[in-house]
Amino acid sequence: MQIAIDGPASAGKSTIAKLVATKLGYVYCDTGAMYRTVTLMALRAGIDVHDADAITARLPELRIDFRPTADGQQVLMNGDDVSLAIRQEDVTNNASAVSAIPAVRADLTQRQRDIAAAGNIVMDGRDIGTTVLPDAELKVFMVASVEERARRRFLDNQAKGIDVPVEVLEQEIAARDHKDSTRATSPLKQADDAVRIDTTHMSIDEVVTEILLLHDDRE
Ligand code: C5P
Repeated sequence: MQIAIDGPASAGKSTIAKLVATKLGYVYCDTGAMYRTVTLMALRAGIDVHDADAITARLPELRIDFRPTADGQQVLMNGDDVSLAIRQEDVTNNASAVSAIPAVRADLTQRQRDIAAAGNIVMDGRDIGTTVLPDAELKVFMVASVEERARRRFLDNQAKGIDVPVEVLEQEIAARDHKDSTRATSPLKQADDAVRIDTTHMSIDEVVTEILLLHDDRE
């Protein structure tokens, strides 16, 4: 069984996807972390994030692995733990440019399909239901208001000691949504057969329960 969870930035996809995967005993794949890792690689190498050729040339030697931990998973870039580095603001704000490069998308889409081929999976991102796993048995498109998403990001950031005003986060989230929805290759878009869940006024538990019910319906 494949569960695809797509939606705009900070809609709660990864929190929910992780919990659903744990409850079902499925593998969880965070595709945003993969785009973030490519972005981090470019920033660390001093490559302009719009330089498609230079970034593409580095992809064959870029290894991205997920390593399970007691409370989730680590993201490894060529064996180094980059779980925290890929959540920093510079990576967050440059990831949309890197993810608009068609060769980057083709490369990561293939890696994501390989991961999914191994068995039951919950995968979250922007184009999972439309492009990566078009035959997924369950597709969810998760949305929430920009204000609520900025509020959640603000609280997350506070826990990590990152200090960005909520108004700035609202602008960043709106800008990222715009770039992700208007790019030419696999833009953020609800799949025709996806179930839309607006989480603005829902608790994490309520969303998880709804997805588990949808999953049970399809079994
Ligand atoms: O989900 P997350 O916010 O970590 O994703 C970071 C960025 O990676 C997104 O803003 C988007 O540009 C890109 N992304 C994508 N396709 C995916 C997952 C993420 O383009 N499947």
